Amino acid sequence: MAFVNDNFLNIPETYLFSEIARKVNTYKEENPSANIIRLGIGDVTRPLAPAVIKALHAAVDEMGDANTFRGYGPEQGYAFLRETIVAKDYTARGIDIAPDEVFVSDGAKSDTGNFGDILGPNNVIAVTDPVYPVYVDTNAMAGRAGKPTADGKWEKIVYLPCTKENNFIPELPETRPDVIYLCYPNNPTGTTLKKNELKQWVDYARANDVLILFDAAYEAFISEPDVPHSIYEIEGAREVAVEFRSFSKTAGFTGLRCGYTVVPKTVLVNSAEHGRVPLNRLWNRRQTTKFNGTAYIVQRAAEAIYSAEGQQQIKETIATYMNNAGIIRKGVEAKGLSAFGGVNAPYIWLKTPDGISSWQFFDRLLNEMNVVGTPGVGFGPHGEGYFRLTAFGSPAQTEEAMQRIANWKL
Ligand code: MLT
Repeated sequence: MAFVNDNFLNIPETYLFSEIARKVNTYKEENPSANIIRLGIGDVTRPLAPAVIKALHAAVDEMGDANTFRGYGPEQGYAFLRETIVAKDYTARGIDIAPDEVFVSDGAKSDTGNFGDILGPNNVIAVTDPVYPVYVDTNAMAGRAGKPTADGKWEKIVYLPCTKENNFIPELPETRPDVIYLCYPNNPTGTTLKKNELKQWVDYARANDVLILFDAAYEAFISEPDVPHSIYEIEGAREVAVEFRSFSKTAGFTGLRCGYTVVPKTVLVNSAEHGRVPLNRLWNRRQTTKFNGTAYIVQRAAEAIYSAEGQQQIKETIATYMNNAGIIRKGVEAKGLSAFGGVNAPYIWLKTPDGISSWQFFDRLLNEMNVVGTPGVGFGPHGEGYFRLTAFGSPAQTEEAMQRIANWKL
């Protein structure tokens, strides 16, 4: 009989958001009449923009006509989308990225998770703590994390704590890792790095020959001018950084699935046998072998986001979510709790009252107020004592949730 990849037996049996869904479903079965408001997983609730729907319909019609039907597309994405991405997300910001450095995919979760395929098994990985669990779990699956430790960490992972004490700005690592994951605006804390702060990381990576995997899935929510939308706004980032982008939160594509990854040809990493090699070539090889591209109709839908009407429509939706974020933050603060984020990101990160752990807060909020959030400790040990609420609910549900929290006897 075959052997399993034992690394899978080291990771928690369920993924964080699956575990939360399981708990909520159990509660719902036991309390069928409960009116539960879900501000847990960062899943959008507003429908797709009309410009996107129009593009989808048109693309579906093309697929039904022998003259315009498309079969397999380029694994890296159609040129029409890659060129639009480059023009609107990079050239328009004065950033030098070429279409063959852009790889369209079914989302940033897959890409951040899959990227480890092209990295060696002995790389030392650094993550901020708390952190989006995909980075840690996928490295654990690949054996790069070692074994779990009693304090909720992994023996080989370098953790960079982000707490209110350091204003959620991680310090540069004391020992040099090979790879650093950064996500800004940050999931889960909703906080940001300003341009001069991100520059320190790029400078560090260049000086120490470190690869930065930069997740910019939430860049569309930035409202402050000194917060970079792309790591390539920082000089030298083209040498050391890969950037992940997603249309999930930007344009409500969580169910449609589309994102992209930028791998500049100038990012060179070490090979034991071949010296310095470009990651772009390896990612291209990985994608062409394991991925057959994102659906044509979805890529046309993504292209439509960049039209003038598409831009206006998605901006309205983002404004609605950020209005929710303001309501949540105000409500949390009115309750006497410290709240962070919610200004350049759709997440509010709150400090639970002394003596109430993340999971206790989760259970009580669900049981007593029928509101779902995400326990901070699910994102890493330094998330203990924190809790995340998302701004992706409807305005009415968000108001209602905050009303319930206002009445809550904590
Ligand atoms: C979250 O809630 O952190 C996100 O929805 C997760 C994701 O984008 O996969």
